[in-house]
Amino acid sequence: MTLVSSRIDTAKLDKIMQDYDYNKSNLIAMLQGVQQIYKYLPEEAITYIGTKVEGLSPATVFGVATFYAQFSLEPKGKYEIKVCDGTACHVRGSMPVLNAVKKKIQLKDGKMTTDNGLFSLETVSCLGACSLAPAMVINGKIYPKMTEEAVSMIIDVLLKENE
Ligand code: FES
Repeated sequence: MTLVSSRIDTAKLDKIMQDYDYNKSNLIAMLQGVQQIYKYLPEEAITYIGTKVEGLSPATVFGVATFYAQFSLEPKGKYEIKVCDGTACHVRGSMPVLNAVKKKIQLKDGKMTTDNGLFSLETVSCLGACSLAPAMVINGKIYPKMTEEAVSMIIDVLLKENE
């Protein structure tokens, strides 16, 4: 018997693997399917797929999941913050903006999501809005010409909404 946490629904995972013929060459598509359901890749799902698909192992699946930036191994926060660190944004000060966000949401070093589950933070290479540099996106909404002060005000509003 495979021990899996109740955090994952094995029937849904079985369906995904079935849709891709339990074929290891479809692993990326399977992981995309899992991420669509959970918004991240739960460790238990990685292990489950790694033991069910012939020719794979949990370690292999984990390796693929960590290699591709499109996959997240941590649950995302209610607010997904993306700070652009493409060339235009970097030159115009995206790093101070990023640090201001980290500090304001109290994100621990090495973590992507805050302990309260409210915020997750990542950097992206270009949002396609270089004239608005430095730019930031929260849940798909773009915030142009960010400053440390603006970050503080925006996060304050979100915190207030969740008091
Ligand atoms: S470099 Fe940031 S939007 Fe293009």
